Amino acid sequence: MKTWDELYTECINCQKCALAETRHNVVFGDGARDAEVMFIGEGPGEQEDLTGKPFVGRAGKLLDDMLAMIDLDRNKVFIGNMVKCRPPQNRDPLNVEQEACIDYLRNQVALIKPKIIVCLGRIAAMKLIKPDFKITKEHGQWYEKAGVQMTAILHPSALLRDPRKRPETYEDLKGLQAKIKELCDHTYPTN
Ligand code: URA
Repeated sequence: MKTWDELYTECINCQKCALAETRHNVVFGDGARDAEVMFIGEGPGEQEDLTGKPFVGRAGKLLDDMLAMIDLDRNKVFIGNMVKCRPPQNRDPLNVEQEACIDYLRNQVALIKPKIIVCLGRIAAMKLIKPDFKITKEHGQWYEKAGVQMTAILHPSALLRDPRKRPETYEDLKGLQAKIKELCDHTYPTN
């Protein structure tokens, strides 16, 4: 396992897949290094590629609102992605790209030791929870893997495309809030 500094240096110089050729910035991930809760999206979009920060575009604004609904402070969680470089035209990251990148995420999880991992959308859920994960049916359900509680919610981009799905996501967020209250020590100031 690498230290944060070693991992960061390796990531920003990474040439393991073709996304390195078109990226402007590697989006390493952002937030607390002792986070009890990690959110994992799919891959950087245009704004993230330009700034090097995860979830700062339209989907990121909605994610901020979703966190605020359950009083979660973005600085107290960690937000990352399945792939750290932008797939051209925001296409789904290819399996080879995810495979090239996943050890960086594994190393981040090993350093952070979160109690809860929340997959944002189908791509992260299929890689991190189970390959046949059905996001429309199985969002909001809880799974345990290696002592970590895992769930998936709809990706904020999917909610931007179809706002009728927001009420179900609100229920999932309430479930997440209850799980945090049950398991986490310092995620909320009052805990
Ligand atoms: N969508 C993602 O999956 N990740 C980001 O960082 C931004 C948009």
